[in-house]
Amino acid sequence: MNIVILAAGQGKRMNSALPKVLHTLAGKPMLGHVLDTLKILGRGLHPCLVLGHGQSAVKGFLDQRQDVVSIALQEEQKGTGHAVLQALPHLNSSETTLILYGDVPLIQVQTLETLLKLAQNGAFAILTQVRQDPTGYGRIIRNLDSEVVGIVEEKDASSEQKQITEINTGIIACATEDLKKWIQQLQPNNAQGEYYLTDIVVLAAKDGVPIRTLHPQFAFEVEGVNSRAQLAQLERVWQEHLAQTLLAQGVTLLDPARIDIRGHFQCGSDVTIDIGCIFEGEVEIAAGVSIGPYCFIKDSKIGSQSQIKAFSHLEGSVVKEMAIIGPYARLRPGTLIERQAHVGNFVEVKNSHIGQGSKVNHLSYVGDADIGQRVNIGAGTITCNYDGVNKHRTTIEDDAFIGSDTQLVAPVTVGKGATIGAGTTLTKDAPAEKLTISRAKQLSVDWQRPQKNKSKD
Ligand code: UD1
Ligand code: CA
Repeated sequence: MNIVILAAGQGKRMNSALPKVLHTLAGKPMLGHVLDTLKILGRGLHPCLVLGHGQSAVKGFLDQRQDVVSIALQEEQKGTGHAVLQALPHLNSSETTLILYGDVPLIQVQTLETLLKLAQNGAFAILTQVRQDPTGYGRIIRNLDSEVVGIVEEKDASSEQKQITEINTGIIACATEDLKKWIQQLQPNNAQGEYYLTDIVVLAAKDGVPIRTLHPQFAFEVEGVNSRAQLAQLERVWQEHLAQTLLAQGVTLLDPARIDIRGHFQCGSDVTIDIGCIFEGEVEIAAGVSIGPYCFIKDSKIGSQSQIKAFSHLEGSVVKEMAIIGPYARLRPGTLIERQAHVGNFVEVKNSHIGQGSKVNHLSYVGDADIGQRVNIGAGTITCNYDGVNKHRTTIEDDAFIGSDTQLVAPVTVGKGATIGAGTTLTKDAPAEKLTISRAKQLSVDWQRPQKNKSKD
């Protein structure tokens, strides 16, 4: 199969230096959505992208993704038919061609599969939609037998034709040999002086090719984006769809209108998610997890029955079962929190392993540390992991107790069962089972508090 993705338009109404198709929906450029959908549609599909405005930025994006695509340049945008004309040399004549758009990001695999089935054996398949307000779209013209015989653009339509509510979504599939023939016959004799892709429908009808239509399963699949307002609107519609999918899977959302999913989100059963949470990248949440309000979770895995409390920020982290994180915790990349461990408020953990049942409950920085099981880290503990040039590791073995306000100057090791007195600055290893403390001796002297100066008035 051949696939053509039209993406040469400027997107003037976006008012942006960024090409329209690189504006993001659910955290991913619109063009990325289309390309990802094609990956699901079939392995080894190599779409041909028609690029024009902002082509270097789009090519940069394609390089990043390492997609195998071919590129046809359309230097001047003379219409959708002219855009497809540029792609023709890339298309294998013996296969079907599917035409998609870089600014119609949410087309779904199922709809495309059905459309392609309709286009089998040389038929012409058009994805159409019935809209209450069809203004601006090309209208589907049918004869008395309700066969499609043409598409008329808004600007060329008679007032009668403007009453038609069935519109052209632009997405079509047909035999490539025919497509090549028809595209080369297009003329720009219309209100806009453009080469209309839609004019090939008349040619198909004349050739006696059966023309079949299909509606998408969801209206959002065929929504195109021309402005930031439309993009924002489509984002809400898509988020609502994702939220409904989660609800149907058995996830509790305290408000399905207040969750944002920007990536691949996998959720077990009986998960509860409070309002205002954002999930980015690859996130996996196991059964029975509860997530408090306003959490940000990116590229992380949460084990079953764990609790992530309000305002926590997790990135590149793994939390095992029955752990408690937050409120106000920050887990940075490279963090592994084992079963039943607790990370409390205003605690930052980076590139560290916190063992089973260990607790870091208040106001601490744990960076580049390996912490064993059942360790208790007191409030205000800091791993001094950075000497200004290099990072060093801190090791705290099982059952150690770190008193509050301790600084662990890495590299340093606290042995099994050791106790570190509050306020210690640990610069050498602390032996197992002993109390280690570095603290100025406490003393008390007689002391007269200064008196406030008496003012003159
Ligand atoms: C087109 C259809 C119309 C349909 C509507 C659906 C034609 C003539 N009309 O109209 O029937 O209802 O889409 O949204 O096809 N593009 C290029 N190069 C060009 C022109 C366009 O790459 O020279 C790309 C644009 O970037 C855009 C897409 O094609 O992604 C559609 O172009 P646009 O000008 O928006 O077409 P419409 O007038 O909306
Ligand atoms: Ca459009």
